[in-house]
Amino acid sequence: MNSELILNRAYPVLPVIVIEELSQAVPLAQALSAGGIHVFEVTLRTACALEAIQEIKAAMPDCITGAGTVTSPDQIDAVLKAGADFAVSPGATPALLKESNKQNLSLIPGVSTPSDVIQAIEHGYNLLKLFPAEQSVGVSMLKALAGPFPDIRFCPTGGIGLHNAKDYLSLSNVVAIGGSWVCPGNLVKEGRWDEITQLAGEAVDALKKT
Ligand code: 3PG
Repeated sequence: MNSELILNRAYPVLPVIVIEELSQAVPLAQALSAGGIHVFEVTLRTACALEAIQEIKAAMPDCITGAGTVTSPDQIDAVLKAGADFAVSPGATPALLKESNKQNLSLIPGVSTPSDVIQAIEHGYNLLKLFPAEQSVGVSMLKALAGPFPDIRFCPTGGIGLHNAKDYLSLSNVVAIGGSWVCPGNLVKEGRWDEITQLAGEAVDALKKT
């Protein structure tokens, strides 16, 4: 899938999802979708993550469902078999970049330095995750990267919420922001889907015009 079809300003928020119980997967995706978020990053941090992707894909074929926290080239095969539309990694090793290209998986690799960006460009990537955004480099880094890398687009993630999302989305090289604040673990665990729909709706309303 073309990276511009995965993330663009029509969908400014990429929810970083952790599914502890498979039964949470579809209700959570439905709750986010009811609030206006239709692109999901299901992180491979739990045992049921791949099955969760499969179930969300089957139940919500019109949404775009990706796998997050991909840290090894060995995971690419499994992610594709689960039916993921794309993958996200916190990093960008040559092995990961090459394997995703080889298997034709749309990967959003994670970067935090200019050298990371150059390495990703060398492998043909132009949509990158800036990670961890707030904890390390933030808005000022993205502004600085726009000079030498005018064609590269970013999805910063890490420490972003409604309080600072607009600072990122006001930058011309930011297409979307990632974050877990729209699907907090306690609400997911307690099945408080209406509250998640509300958080998603608030985020979409606040950010769609940035
Ligand atoms: C990620 O996994 O991409 C980030 O850890 C999400 O960061 P956040 O929880 O601060 O939004």
